[in-house]
Amino acid sequence: MTSPPTEPGELPFETLVGQTIGEEAVHDLAPLLPVLAADLADIDRRLTTMLRSTYPQLTNAATYACNTGGKRVRPLLMVAVHRGLGATTTTAIHSLAAAFQLIHTATLVHDDVIDHAEMRRGRPSMPRAFGLPAAIVSGDYLFVRAFELAADYPKEIILRCGEACADLVEGEVLQETGRFDLTRGQEHYYRVIERKTAALIAASLASVAVIAGAEPSVVDACGAYGRSLGIAFQIKDDLLDLYGDPDLLGKPLYADLREGNPTLVSLEAYNHLEPTKRAEFERLFAQRRKQPGDLLRLKALTDETGAPQRVADEAQRWAERAVHSLEPLADSPYRQLLVSAARGAAARRF
Ligand code: FPP
Ligand code: MG
Repeated sequence: MTSPPTEPGELPFETLVGQTIGEEAVHDLAPLLPVLAADLADIDRRLTTMLRSTYPQLTNAATYACNTGGKRVRPLLMVAVHRGLGATTTTAIHSLAAAFQLIHTATLVHDDVIDHAEMRRGRPSMPRAFGLPAAIVSGDYLFVRAFELAADYPKEIILRCGEACADLVEGEVLQETGRFDLTRGQEHYYRVIERKTAALIAASLASVAVIAGAEPSVVDACGAYGRSLGIAFQIKDDLLDLYGDPDLLGKPLYADLREGNPTLVSLEAYNHLEPTKRAEFERLFAQRRKQPGDLLRLKALTDETGAPQRVADEAQRWAERAVHSLEPLADSPYRQLLVSAARGAAARRF
């Protein structure tokens, strides 16, 4: 297993295949790598073109946000779906893939403002590197530039993009309303992550299927795949916040506990603790300023309940739902890549 890249601008493609796609698939997928790498390089080129502003400060900040060693999962999935639906060249979707990647990056910039995040992908977060006002306007800039790229596509695609962005904002608003509160339960958690994470992936893959001329049932299948993969991805993301390796993740652990985000693992632990410990868990979780000892105690209580394993299993179930959604797609190496990507989203270590 390789480490995540640390060099700005590096395309972590082999890392992605070894990690996100799942180790067992690396060998089989090796012949696809040069094709996909060329696709991703062209998408990156289109994206980079959109970052140029007449104001160098803005170009620098936007470039920093986009070059922080992200996994480029969304463009990769979009290319794999397009090719999996029979496309022999994918340039028709490259600007759209760049648009979705820009939207995703914009959301992370704003998310780091909201979450007071110090680090992202092994480097200072945008608000820390450039200050709060610059981070906010840079996120806005990436977001509007994305829609300039999307303007090349039919109205249906732009509407799908717009709806997914509205979902993202709603997910973030919902998350805000539930901070430091464990009583809203798993239903609230799923409503948040469906919107803040799954909706954008679902919209990107359904849009690709539309562009490929797929039948409505296949468009829906691609959207359902993206939705389930997104849910698996976020459940695992939240688990890694508690149990990951901070060096691999490129950010400190326990952000969700500090920010009071009731993730699935915290909710699962809370539901399985005996009353006295449950009350202690609730009290510690609700504290706005947690000490390191509070965080460790919350983690120890979580461990006692066996919640981490159950939540990891739940992420895998969502990955299998994603795999099941791919049934209407003909068998191909690209379909196999999508299968491995879904399983990799639940199994990844960063
Ligand atoms: C990461 O979650 C955050 C998101 C997936 C979505 C954030 C959405 C917004 C800020 C609103 C929409 C903004 C625009 C420009 C449309 P996380 O905090 O759990 O993950 P992390 O650990 O990577 O920070
Ligand atoms: Mg965050």
